[in-house]
Amino acid sequence: DRLRVHVVLLLAVKWYRDRQQWQPPKGRPRTHDRRLEVGWTIGPVVILAAVAILTMAALPAIERPAAYDYTIQVIGAQWVWLFQYPDWNDTATNLRSSRTMYVEVGKTFLLEVTSRDVIHSFYVPDLGIKIDAVPGIANTFWVRVDRPGTFTINCAEFCGAGHSEMNGEVVAFAPGTQAI
Ligand code: CUA
Repeated sequence: DRLRVHVVLLLAVKWYRDRQQWQPPKGRPRTHDRRLEVGWTIGPVVILAAVAILTMAALPAIERPAAYDYTIQVIGAQWVWLFQYPDWNDTATNLRSSRTMYVEVGKTFLLEVTSRDVIHSFYVPDLGIKIDAVPGIANTFWVRVDRPGTFTINCAEFCGAGHSEMNGEVVAFAPGTQAI
């Protein structure tokens, strides 16, 4: 087989070398083309500028929705996730939960994510959530779940000895199925 490959290779070399159409043209070879150079410089600049502008226009909507129904404060702490529901804070119960975050199906929740101590990262892969929890800073993200279910929460930023146990779940409940 190797012999056959070499024979074909040598035949191809001879065929392409001897054909008239592969001979270099007469006269001085062309080495520069100003229009081509300008074109392949300007073209990519225009394409990249368009991509950058479209990206900058779309980015704010990724981290913050145009409208939302409720706010949830997500607080990372060594080594547990804490949740506060400030939209119910004026009632008798100051609603909060730890390890489990409750969201109603079909509603949009604004997440205000921060930390009590070191940097954590609130990570719910099944819901497309990953946002750093940084002390002193409220990072915003949002979630709207379309079907009931439970979705695993992890911490995605090494935060100390209990990092690997800093887990929990998001419970998405159908309207009317969860007591306040
Ligand atoms: Cu919190 Cu890792």
